[in-house]
Amino acid sequence: MINNIELERASLLTYLECPECGTIHNAGVVNTVCTNCTSTLFAQYNLSTGVSKDILTGRPATMWRYKEFLPVIDEKFIVTLGEGFTPIIPVNNLKKFTGDNEVFWKDESGNPTGSFKARGISAAVSKAKELGIQIIATPTAGNAGGALAAYAAAAGVKAIVYMPKQTPKVFKDECHLYGAELVEIDGSISDCGKLVNEYAAINNWFQVSTLKEPYRLEGKKTMGYEIAEQFNWQLPDVIFYPTGGGTGLIGIWKAFDELEQLGWIGGKRPRMVAVQSESCDGIVKAFHAGQTVSEFTDGGFTIANGLRVPKPYADKIILKVLHQSNGSAITISDDEMSAAVKEIARNEGLLFAPEGAALWQAYKKLKASQWIQSGEKVLLLNTGSGYKYLENIM
Ligand SMILES: Cc1ncc(COP(=O)(O)O)c(C=O)c1O
Ligand SMILES: [Zn+2]
Repeated sequence: MINNIELERASLLTYLECPECGTIHNAGVVNTVCTNCTSTLFAQYNLSTGVSKDILTGRPATMWRYKEFLPVIDEKFIVTLGEGFTPIIPVNNLKKFTGDNEVFWKDESGNPTGSFKARGISAAVSKAKELGIQIIATPTAGNAGGALAAYAAAAGVKAIVYMPKQTPKVFKDECHLYGAELVEIDGSISDCGKLVNEYAAINNWFQVSTLKEPYRLEGKKTMGYEIAEQFNWQLPDVIFYPTGGGTGLIGIWKAFDELEQLGWIGGKRPRMVAVQSESCDGIVKAFHAGQTVSEFTDGGFTIANGLRVPKPYADKIILKVLHQSNGSAITISDDEMSAAVKEIARNEGLLFAPEGAALWQAYKKLKASQWIQSGEKVLLLNTGSGYKYLENIM
C-alpha cells in the first residue's frame, strides 16, 4: 500500500497511450495528438501499486486532492485557484417532477471563472508550466478562454484566445481583464480552431484545443473521481452531460475505469446521456443512427455557447462511451433551455448556465418516455454559472 508519506512524487503518470491505435508516447515531452493516427491521447498511470483511498483523508477540497492521478510530476508546478470539489445538491422544490427518482445537480458554477473549464485548464496550464511552455493559445466557445486567461495570469505565461464574435461580451471582457490577447472571429469555434492551428504552427504557440492536448481531459476527469467519492463510492444510475467537445463525458468515463483499476469502485457504470443544442446535434444524430463518427452540423447560434461545436474532434470516443454505457443522446432547444434556467432559478435559488439547465429538460423528457426508470438515481452536471449568460437569457 502507498500512503501519503511514501509518495515521493505527486503523480503516478507513466506514459500517454492512443486509445485508437495503441501507440505509446513519452509523457516527459510536449505532446498534442497521436503521431500515428491523430486521435486524442490518454494519460496512463501506474494504478497497480495498490493506492489506498485513505490518501484522501485531510486533503484540500480541490481537484488536486487526486494529484497521484493527475499529470504534474513536481507539485511546485501546480497552478491552482481552488478548482474542483464542487457540491452535489439534491433537487429540492422541483421534486414534483422527479417522482421516486433521486435527482442531484453537481454544481460547477462555483469554480474559478464560473465554469468547469477551470479544471481542465488548471491541469493543462500546470503541465505546460512543468514542460517549460511560455505561450498558450486556444479556440474557445467562451468559458475555456476565460479560464485559460485566468490560469495563464496565475502561471505567469501568455494566453492567446480565439473566440466567435457572437459570444456574449462578458466572456470577452474577462479575457481582457486577465490580460490575455483576444482575437474575435466571425464564425464558430471550428473556424477559431483552424486559425489557431495555422498560427500556432507558425509562431510556436502551444495550443490547448479541446482533446488535441492530453491534459485538459485529466483535469475534467476529476469530476468522475468526485462523483464517486461524494456518493460514497456508489455511482449513480444515470449521468447527464452537456456535450460540446465532450471532454467531461470522456473524462468521467476514464475516471471510472481508473477507479475500478484502483479497486475503489466495482464494475457497475452509470448510463451516460449527451445533451446537445438543436443547432449542433451531430452526436445525437450519429448515436441514434448507430454510427461511430458524427457529421458536421450547421454550427449556428445557440444561447448555450459552450454547445456551439459543429463537430467534436473526439466524436468517435464520445459515441463509444455512449454506446458502451447503454446511454442516450438528446437535443434541447434554446427556448427550452431559457425556460429551464428560469424554472431552476425561481424554484431552487440556483442560477445555472443554459448548458447545465438543458439537462433538466432532458431529464424530464427521458423520464416521460420511461427511459429513466422508477427508483433510479440521476446526476445532472451543471457546468457553469448563469451570470455570464444574462444578456441572452433575459
Ligand atoms: C458551460 C459549458 N458547458 C458545457 C460545455 C461543453 O463542454 P465540453 O466541450 O467538454 O463538451 C462548455 C464548453 O464550452 C461550457 O462552457
Ligand atoms: Zn493513434
